[in-house]
Amino acid sequence: MEATRTIVVGVTGGIAAYKSAELVSRLRKEGFAVHVIMTRNACRFVAPLTFRTLSGNPVLCDTFEEDGPWAVQHVGVAEAADLLVIAPATANIIAKMAHGLADDLLSTVVLATAAPVLVVPSMNSTMLVSAVVQENLRTLRQRGVTILEPAEGELACGVSGPGRLPEPADIVARIRELLAPAADLAGKTVLITSGPTQEDIDPVRFITNRSSGKMGFALARQALRRGARVLLVSGPTALPAPAGAEVFWVRSARDMCARTLELLPQSDVVIGAAAVADYRPRHVSRQKVKKGDGELHIELERNPDILAEVARCKGARVTVGFAAETEDVLANARVKMEKKKLDLLVANDVTMEGAGFGVDTNVATILSPDGRAESLPRMSKEQLADEILDRVVALL
Ligand code: CTP
Repeated sequence: MEATRTIVVGVTGGIAAYKSAELVSRLRKEGFAVHVIMTRNACRFVAPLTFRTLSGNPVLCDTFEEDGPWAVQHVGVAEAADLLVIAPATANIIAKMAHGLADDLLSTVVLATAAPVLVVPSMNSTMLVSAVVQENLRTLRQRGVTILEPAEGELACGVSGPGRLPEPADIVARIRELLAPAADLAGKTVLITSGPTQEDIDPVRFITNRSSGKMGFALARQALRRGARVLLVSGPTALPAPAGAEVFWVRSARDMCARTLELLPQSDVVIGAAAVADYRPRHVSRQKVKKGDGELHIELERNPDILAEVARCKGARVTVGFAAETEDVLANARVKMEKKKLDLLVANDVTMEGAGFGVDTNVATILSPDGRAESLPRMSKEQLADEILDRVVALL
């Protein structure tokens, strides 16, 4: 496990300040120490007590108050920070940063810290795209500040467009990337299957499942962050492809299997995160199936088991599988592990809250070949991906 890192969260006066409460809460849950600095205007949107409670530390609101743990607050907090994130960042703090102003605690800490700085702008679309705000953001980027682009969507002022604060999970993921450890997967190629498959019935219908692809994409991002080359064989998903991954889009289990076996010789690690359909319609109708009066029977036949195929030519590769179970989780998982000759198996009970399909978190138990079963607490899929890769690295 990594040493506790300290994130300083600067909150400025925008309506999205309430979302920072969730950001702080997530950071704490993921094991970070958190100190919050609020500007005077931020305190008009959210009470400091909220952040005090969620961070477990006094909230720093003013340069001259005595509430924080350090003798000289702005220097103490600036030095304690492993990373400073400003979310939401208003046009005002962005302008102050671009010009080096230090007229309150947050802007002073920005100047006093040597830690990486992540700015998460959130404001009305017209303000955001204005020439001066864009120029200030450019200036910050040139000076090495990381800007997390605002999301698009409906804004508090009623209009729709860019300017929304990204989801707290995405902000945490970016923070993790910026705190990246040594590139312990450099020189290794990680092959990942991800997402659902689609098994055609006719030209307009198919059988699929509820996999979102989030777990596989999180694994891809974390493997890339650790320096791996990533080959991502993905079923259809609405998620943006992880930047830097070589993505091979497929639809059916058979296509996924063929692609995976084709890429296998290049890989050092294979992770089966896809929810592969075990069956496909025996006959795919070339014309749209018309409704009749009675029942319709679709005969299904078995699909190949991709990880079982991989096991046949496993070599020295490290292979990882998932087991989504609804009962007898560990017993079922152990059987899968043996059948598919897996080095690690990530089992989760998909009936548990915060686990499985579509959600951003997972509750998993990792089984090792020596029979150990490590139960992990509920965590983000990004963090689970990191935990899995820690164990993969130890096996390589
Ligand atoms: N898997 C695979 N090919 C398949 C089915 C599953 O590669 N045709 C992989 C999945 O990516 C996952 C693991 O095998 O890593 C377990 O999948 P799961 O569906 O939970 O188990 P199954 O082996 O299909 O068994 P069952 O459906 O009976 O639980």
